[in-house]
Amino acid sequence: MRVLGIETSCDETSVAIIDNGRVRANEVFTQDIHAVYGGVVPEIASREHIKKVAILCKKVIDTTVGSLDAIDLIAVTDRPGLAGALLVGVSFAYGLHVAENIPLIGVNHLEGHIAAVTIEHSLRPPFFALVASGGHTSIYRVAEDSYSILGQTIDDAAGEAFDKVGKLLGFPYPAGPYIEREARRYTGSDPIEFPVAQVTQYDGANFSFSGLKTSVKYYVQKSSAPLSEDERARVCYSFQEAVVAAFVQNLRTILHEHGSLPLAFVGGVACNGRLREALSEEFSNDVFFPSPKLCADNAAMIAQAGARLYQRGVRRFPRMEPTSRLTE
Ligand code: KG4
Ligand code: ZN
Repeated sequence: MRVLGIETSCDETSVAIIDNGRVRANEVFTQDIHAVYGGVVPEIASREHIKKVAILCKKVIDTTVGSLDAIDLIAVTDRPGLAGALLVGVSFAYGLHVAENIPLIGVNHLEGHIAAVTIEHSLRPPFFALVASGGHTSIYRVAEDSYSILGQTIDDAAGEAFDKVGKLLGFPYPAGPYIEREARRYTGSDPIEFPVAQVTQYDGANFSFSGLKTSVKYYVQKSSAPLSEDERARVCYSFQEAVVAAFVQNLRTILHEHGSLPLAFVGGVACNGRLREALSEEFSNDVFFPSPKLCADNAAMIAQAGARLYQRGVRRFPRMEPTSRLTE
């Protein structure tokens, strides 16, 4: 089955073609324009998607199957995300569906992130998935036809914490890769003891990144002079290790309470090499990651999720009223 995937939920415009689980094309345009604003500006994101989506679609068709006639299914992200940005992708996909009479399915962006791990690995449900992105940080038990949420952040998402801490330290948006790079420069043996980004007063495996971010903020504000390069690397290292500790502790709790299953670590934050390395060590390699290109927002993961749903008989017409935050 050949699936055309379309992703426009935030600041990446992406169109991809998956052919029986194999990625034939996965074009991603990252809207760098937001960097100067220190975060994604929703109205600008929508306009950039409008400029790019048709061009990318033509490109993936021309460089692979040659014609829309060869496409069996269109899969488009319809939730959660920026409302205007989602509308661009959904409207474009709807237009193709009507004009070309190709079946259309709406895909949950988070389901897409989880499906990304099944593109390059033979991992199949049941498994646990830690989804860590700019908007969400949750742990799910993934079954063949359902997801149960076992833990989630009660405030900021992990990626958001990386971005906010990065902003404090003067890095451009998105700051995750800059923090990772700076943290690698730290060679000292006296890291700062920031609080672990974990909710300890409740049962379960919830996260709280807001306290960690505030601790970093106080630490930076209390130093009278601007941080030296070495001190900045120390802050990045210490912050990142607090995130590592929270991920490890909550995943340990999940394995302890819900039985032993393989783990998947997905979403933009899963591009982070230190986090990948720490989870592999801790969970004896029974942990799977998509390659970095498939961790960050991309349409191949949406096509893959759409294909798996469609093959299971699910018919889910995209929501024409996009939802910016999921409450269900
Ligand atoms: O999944 P994603 O591409 O978009 C959303 O759905 O939000 O995730 C983007 C997030 C950003 O917050 C970005 O800073 C973070 O992923 N990120 C990273 C790294 N690369 C991207 N965080 C930590 N380390 C990285 N190397
Ligand atoms: Zn995402």
